[in-house]
Amino acid sequence: MQSYYVSTPIYYVNDEPHVGHAYTTIAADVLARYYRLAGRDVLFLTGVDEHGQKVEQAANERGITPAALADAVVDGYRSLWPSLEISNDDFIRTSEDRHKRAVSEIWRRLDAAGAIYKGFYEDLYCVPCETYWTATQLKDAGHADDKRCPDCGRPVQQVKEESYFFRLGNYQEALLEHIRNNPDFIGPESRRNEVLRFVEGGLRDLSVSRTTFTWGIPVPGDPAHVIYVWIDALTNYLTGAGFPDGDMRHWPCDVHLIGKDILRFHAVYWPCMLLAAGIPLPKRVYAHGWWTVEGEKMSKSKGNALRPDKLLEEFDADTIRYFLLREVPFGHDGDFSHAALKQRYNTELANDIGNLLNRSLSMLHKYQDGVLAAVDSEEAADRELVAAVEAMQRSVDDAMQRQAFHEALEHIQSVVRHGNRYVEDNAPWALFKQGNADRLATVLYHLVESLRLIVLQLVPFMPVKTAVMLAQIMNAEQQVNALLLSEHGGWGLLAAGHVCARPSPVFPRME
Ligand code: MSP
Repeated sequence: MQSYYVSTPIYYVNDEPHVGHAYTTIAADVLARYYRLAGRDVLFLTGVDEHGQKVEQAANERGITPAALADAVVDGYRSLWPSLEISNDDFIRTSEDRHKRAVSEIWRRLDAAGAIYKGFYEDLYCVPCETYWTATQLKDAGHADDKRCPDCGRPVQQVKEESYFFRLGNYQEALLEHIRNNPDFIGPESRRNEVLRFVEGGLRDLSVSRTTFTWGIPVPGDPAHVIYVWIDALTNYLTGAGFPDGDMRHWPCDVHLIGKDILRFHAVYWPCMLLAAGIPLPKRVYAHGWWTVEGEKMSKSKGNALRPDKLLEEFDADTIRYFLLREVPFGHDGDFSHAALKQRYNTELANDIGNLLNRSLSMLHKYQDGVLAAVDSEEAADRELVAAVEAMQRSVDDAMQRQAFHEALEHIQSVVRHGNRYVEDNAPWALFKQGNADRLATVLYHLVESLRLIVLQLVPFMPVKTAVMLAQIMNAEQQVNALLLSEHGGWGLLAAGHVCARPSPVFPRME
């Protein structure tokens, strides 16, 4: 069976989950569910990043140990994900033994390849970003005088300590060649160009150990040093795949989903580490955009971070999932507003899909006692509907390969609109009045069968609502997790004589 491996970033445990974390995790979940539906052997990995100076500082501020802080925050993540219908196969904590083994092994391989040397680091460090900076980089960003991080704008600290270095520069040419030869390696295109420009600008060796704090994984053979948190964190993707002792059947990863702010780590440092260690590179790294909330940047100081558990008090998981992936093209920045969510819900879910299901099943009950009858002959309009459904299936598959969730949903929505037009054009109520039973049966069959296939495509996005919709169509409980496109995705699988349930509204209008 062909495998499929999708990962999210592992989230720092210095803060509670917010909508940005939920966004990546939902996107990864949709891919995982889609490829399970497509019959692949899926590994969907998420987890938490527990080490580093930032977490240690956050713990100190609260007067607890970093391990205690991690334990507390990790519970928040673990309980949040099921309530958003996240179906991760594994959850990694970087404090686990399996991960420490993987990181130590990676370090040994880098060292054995001659990619690591000991030196002295004297420059700047941004703790919130866990990123090294040079004075020149601060100057270029206009922050030389106030000593602020070019990425997040917060104060950087002066670091002066013995450190191990990774010979990043040695892999510059190999990385450039890889990016140029593999146009799909980094998405979207604009991010790929950004990385190319960055790498072409030259890669300096990277400091990969610290001695001034202890919350991390010690350097093998030199425990005064802890391994740089990004080397530690990136290796989680290998740990999850079973490195170093497992079968690694899911590696290389099909796609690392990340936010745009951590692109350099994933598209430069990570592939260079893997090149040095002689491990195949992930197939793709995709960086999505950032959300603002009601027009404002979320920030700790403003205390305006949108918490998914609060959101779930107002809206169900499927509605949140649908909105996040539909509202903004994946890869772009977007704004989360309650008004926009309600608007999308009312037009696309309540009106378009909800209405199509409701009116189709109502008419089936009114005119044929809920029973589907055989189709004798198809007219052009029927064939067009079937063709639109089949084209949707191909387009959705293509969009999923590119993480173009908004496109996939648009293809699905366009068939929903087609279905609603088909109702108007073929006016089953008129066919009933005219006593045209054959034509009426054909039209109702096409409506219900296209609905079944529309809903099937929506399963990865809305696993709860689709189960309810399918239950009405199939007139039985539906285990959406057991569905397969190869078995259930063909047109015409609903048999004559099949009885559908009476509809009840799945998407009641929001005020
Ligand atoms: N621990 C690192 C990742 C290590 S992966 C090997 C980290 N953690 S984080 O918790 O700070 O951020 C995780 C993710 O949240 C990042 O992908 C980041 O882009 C994302 N987001 C943070 N704020 C966001 C928004 N406002 N909108 C969308 N995503 C956002 O970085």
